[in-house]
Amino acid sequence: MVADPTPDDRFSFGLWTVGWRAADPFGDPTRPALDPVDTVHRLAEIGAWGVTFHDDDLIPFGSDDADRQRAVARFRGALERTGLVVPMATTNLFGHPVFRDGALTSNDREVRRFALRKVMRNMDLAAELGATTYVLWGGREGSETDAAKDVRAAMDRYREGIDTLAAYVTEQGYDLRLALEPKPNEPRGDILLPTIGHALAFISTLEHHEIVGVNPEVGHEQMAGLDVVHGVGQALWQDKLFHIDLNGQRGPRYDQDLVFGHGDVLSAFFLVDLLEHEGYTGPRHFDFKPPRTEDVDGAWVAAEANMRSYLLLRERARAFRADPRVREALEASRVPELARPTLADGETPAALRADTTA
Ligand code: GCO
Ligand code: MN
Ligand code: MN
Repeated sequence: MVADPTPDDRFSFGLWTVGWRAADPFGDPTRPALDPVDTVHRLAEIGAWGVTFHDDDLIPFGSDDADRQRAVARFRGALERTGLVVPMATTNLFGHPVFRDGALTSNDREVRRFALRKVMRNMDLAAELGATTYVLWGGREGSETDAAKDVRAAMDRYREGIDTLAAYVTEQGYDLRLALEPKPNEPRGDILLPTIGHALAFISTLEHHEIVGVNPEVGHEQMAGLDVVHGVGQALWQDKLFHIDLNGQRGPRYDQDLVFGHGDVLSAFFLVDLLEHEGYTGPRHFDFKPPRTEDVDGAWVAAEANMRSYLLLRERARAFRADPRVREALEASRVPELARPTLADGETPAALRADTTA
């Protein structure tokens, strides 16, 4: 029997995950909206540690100041009663029709300026609630036709936008780091920064690169047909794994946001092994969608299944690393030998060139 989840496991969920009302492009919602206060209580009951949100999940778009303050006060009350923390927050830059051509890279300059203010306003709230990571998913930064987007100008504006936000964080003295979340497509035909690799390369061009990292999502790499364990491994290697969205996906198709471990369970196993083995200490954040066929109770069963999958895989990963047969097989495959530098200490390229022993 695998242990029940506890706050020490650092499991977190977005309000928009269990709260997804299951509207899809072909059908209306099948579940009622959830009250964020009830969600916080229920998350605490099932052993989660944190809750995350988009600005609009907590404060409906267009709310006046009084409604905004009421919503924040109720949410804060629930956090205080339950001890749940807010490790991360993010902005909805994709739902409202003004963002139809993107936010930070919209062709419309007014939209870009509005988008930056929308992010900054929610960064204020994120910092106030104690979040240390701010996620930026470029949902609508992209195009359906290459004629409609000047990619080089878009990258200039993307860099300007992220650097402006990073400068804002520094100016305000917030203890926040930014995490860019790659995705190859959906809702746009093609999205800018489609993979972990694109995002890492982009970050290296930023003025404020030291406080910007990535928030990879398992399913998004798999939508692009990539090995998410390699991508996350490289992000860790570059000290850029600031956050992670765990979920499941069955290969290249629409974004399924399945329960973690569903789809490609072997990849999920090696991902958990990597995170645990390499000492990743950040949140284990689930960004999943409960199946549209489930009622509210079923959505909560699905939420619990994410944590259970993680804990099962963690137990298996520990057993794997402790098993002498595994160690023997790794040795036989010379896996440990890869940690040894190719050149000897102080060896020059010319010396290697002259060494004919290999
Ligand atoms: C997706 C995305 C989103 C983002 C979230 C944060 O599944 O397409 O992962 O869920 O993570 O909106 O901005
Ligand atoms: Mn997704
Ligand atoms: Mn995500």
